Amino acid sequence: MKNKLQQFKQDILRQLGEVVDISLLQELEKKYLGRKGELTLLLKDIGNLPAEEKKAVGKLANGIRAEIQAKLAAVKQRLGVSQADKFFDATLPGEKIKAGHLHPLTQVQRELEKIFTSMGFMVLDGPELESDYYNFEALNIPAHHPARDLQDTFYIDHKNQRGEYDLVMRTHTSSVQVRAMERYGAPLRCAVLGKIYRQEATDQRHEHTFYQIEGLMVDKDVSAANLMAVLQTMFVRLFGPGVKIRLRPGYFSFVEPGVEVEMSCLLCQGKGCPVCKQTGWVEMLGAGLVHPNVLRFGGIDPKIYSGFAFGTGIERLAMMKYGIDDIRLFHSGDLHFLQQF
Ligand code: DAH
Repeated sequence: MKNKLQQFKQDILRQLGEVVDISLLQELEKKYLGRKGELTLLLKDIGNLPAEEKKAVGKLANGIRAEIQAKLAAVKQRLGVSQADKFFDATLPGEKIKAGHLHPLTQVQRELEKIFTSMGFMVLDGPELESDYYNFEALNIPAHHPARDLQDTFYIDHKNQRGEYDLVMRTHTSSVQVRAMERYGAPLRCAVLGKIYRQEATDQRHEHTFYQIEGLMVDKDVSAANLMAVLQTMFVRLFGPGVKIRLRPGYFSFVEPGVEVEMSCLLCQGKGCPVCKQTGWVEMLGAGLVHPNVLRFGGIDPKIYSGFAFGTGIERLAMMKYGIDDIRLFHSGDLHFLQQF
């Protein structure tokens, strides 16, 4: 058996050394190493040898096979088989390079920025870690005012000289209203987009961290008509020409009068569905005419100037725009969700 193997080895190596073309090489490969090749069958026979021989012959056979395979590979390389082997079909569609894209919230945010800059609004930013003053006090929400309960937040373990906790994670982008008035004075048109925080149990419609857009316009003779025109423009550009809005009275201490703005439900076209609680209308944002106290906090004389302000969640706008029924999806990092945008 050992002799036979050695003989095989020499024969095969010699023939491989003489090969000059690919078809001959393939023939040899099949003849010796194919499924029914001579060497393959011989190796199978080793299994029938008596146990004491099997080990030594097996070892020899494996060595020989490895040697032949190495030689085969070398010859293939010499003949350039590896290149010729690769079939390239130029008619197949190309492989698309996977590129990421903007998060749906970023897309809506950018769209809003475009809408408001086109109406002459500046886009402003403000700190997420905010003073109690700008977040509440300057918006006509003094300490112990019940309106604070509506916007419970995360207080920071830091006391001012009077021993009061004076830093909060901002509960709304309205906190930038007085900052903007102080910096730019009147007349003023600005939109503030950014992240806000609430001490909130999460559910389908609530998050503890989300995004808002705040709009503020201060000028002479600004009225509710201006507010309506700007909001109408925003809704139509965001949702299409068919959308209608309506106002209802609402309470926010930094505006007087305050309103809640509703839009016609896009999901049922106003017929009534679970999303609009069968009313055909969905509450979308809070707004109103800026309270004189807030203008005063911003250093603006309410006898000369008036203004409107509004604020809403960007998630809420995106949910309506794309028909999404769970706010938690936005921050879940779930690619199945994100890849749809
Ligand atoms: N800041 C309010 C909130 O987060 C929303 C809001 C209501 C903003 C009325 C306004 C406004 O500017 O006038 O719930």
